[in-house]
Amino acid sequence: MPAGHILALDQGTTSTRAILFRTPELSPVAVAQQEFRQHYPASGWVEHEAEDLWDSSLAVMREALARAGLRPQDIAGIGIANQRETTLVWDRRTGRPIHRAIVWQDRRTAAACAELREAGHAAAVAASTGLLIDPYFSATKIAWLLDHVAGAREAAERGELAFGTVDSFLLWQLTGGKVHATDATNAARTLLFDIRAGGWDAAMCALFRVPMAMLPEVRDCAAEFGTTDVLGAAIPVLGIAGDQQAATIGQACFRPGMLKSTYGTGCFALLNTGEAPVASRHRLLTTIAYQLDGRRTYALEGAIFVAGAAVQWLRDGLGLIGDAAESGALAARSDPVQRCYLVPAFVGLGVPHWDAEARGAIHGLTRATGPADFARAALESVGYQTRDLLTAMQADMAGLGDGAVLRVDGGMVASDWTMQFLADILGAPVDRPVVRETTALGAAYLAGLRAGLCPAPEEFARAWQLDRRFTPGMEMAEREAAYAGWQRAVRRTLSGIL
Ligand code: G3P
Repeated sequence: MPAGHILALDQGTTSTRAILFRTPELSPVAVAQQEFRQHYPASGWVEHEAEDLWDSSLAVMREALARAGLRPQDIAGIGIANQRETTLVWDRRTGRPIHRAIVWQDRRTAAACAELREAGHAAAVAASTGLLIDPYFSATKIAWLLDHVAGAREAAERGELAFGTVDSFLLWQLTGGKVHATDATNAARTLLFDIRAGGWDAAMCALFRVPMAMLPEVRDCAAEFGTTDVLGAAIPVLGIAGDQQAATIGQACFRPGMLKSTYGTGCFALLNTGEAPVASRHRLLTTIAYQLDGRRTYALEGAIFVAGAAVQWLRDGLGLIGDAAESGALAARSDPVQRCYLVPAFVGLGVPHWDAEARGAIHGLTRATGPADFARAALESVGYQTRDLLTAMQADMAGLGDGAVLRVDGGMVASDWTMQFLADILGAPVDRPVVRETTALGAAYLAGLRAGLCPAPEEFARAWQLDRRFTPGMEMAEREAAYAGWQRAVRRTLSGIL
């Protein structure tokens, strides 16, 4: 297989990263990262400036090239992984967005979602899209934009406006407005895409009042997405996937029963369920893991909205740590006799509760509670929530039992303390890979596959390398008592109780 270079762009919720990989082995050569501003215009609202998404993308791609000492003509292709569901609408003529991006965490459409659920649409929505009616997904955000920006709905009906998730918006910018496309994994997060048929669903578009003229064309994850010359030479865009699906690919979870969990701003666990979608009976999402050569592989997904964001809150909200990396050491100093539970429902709760109105709470405070106990409660909340997800997955997919191993990635997995607690509370092994830039790796692999620079999935999977396995060490009685305490704390936090 010929050597080459692939540029992966990972546009996430709080930062944008570009990583250059050398093929065929996909070893990282250079990394560049930029954080950008979050906007919180009202309680539960989260927005991004579209310009920040594009400017940071361009800046990190240029920086990664410069750091590697490579020229744009040395790059065989670009792969994009992106924060999913985040919604942009722009004018097709000028390319200008009509509003800031509404971020996946944004809860402004909670009431609209409740109305649709109460009107009895949940079953039809789940049957087509695999999703629940929740503000998390794009459809009600699009409708909100069309209803709140003057003239937008009429312009959309006339075909003058384009909708896109972040991948689609970046692709439009990269290709100078020539390509309005997305991939199947991002389309599957909109509430408008029939995941079995693999196309936009007219009935869903009508239900959510989204004109179909706004929607991008949907392609495979490894496909020709057009060419960009923004870096100074023509480079093809050859891969796109939502960041969690890209991480699933980067973790080489290609066989049914394989499971990964990514700890970024939130935590997202995806379980490969093979070529047939599995309908969840435990409020998990059914989604597309990847689509290659027109064939879809499905996943069950558990989504937790706050994981790394809890550590950010320790740092920025409480000022208990100066750097996220200090959280594990602080937690380790906590008094083992204390048992505080932080339920980080800062933007509601996802799987399995789907409570958009719940807000965070801390339970079990005593006069002896101090900063170390807060840190421990924040880190432990990530482990407990992962167990909630895995319990639901096990209940949905018979056979996913004691042999299950969780492959982990994302910023938080650098903390040995957190990973050990995760293994302890799950009572299952947790595998950390050598390459932790799994999201970017997955995007690079897709582009490399299309460029003919990377091997087929089975061979890529064989090259996956373990850094460390965390084996459960906690006594069963202690584990179950701790988890029962978490479940009580969550019950007290649900919005119906307040
Ligand atoms: O569904 C939202 C998810 O794609 C965001 O991921 O890594 O930006 O927290 P991340």
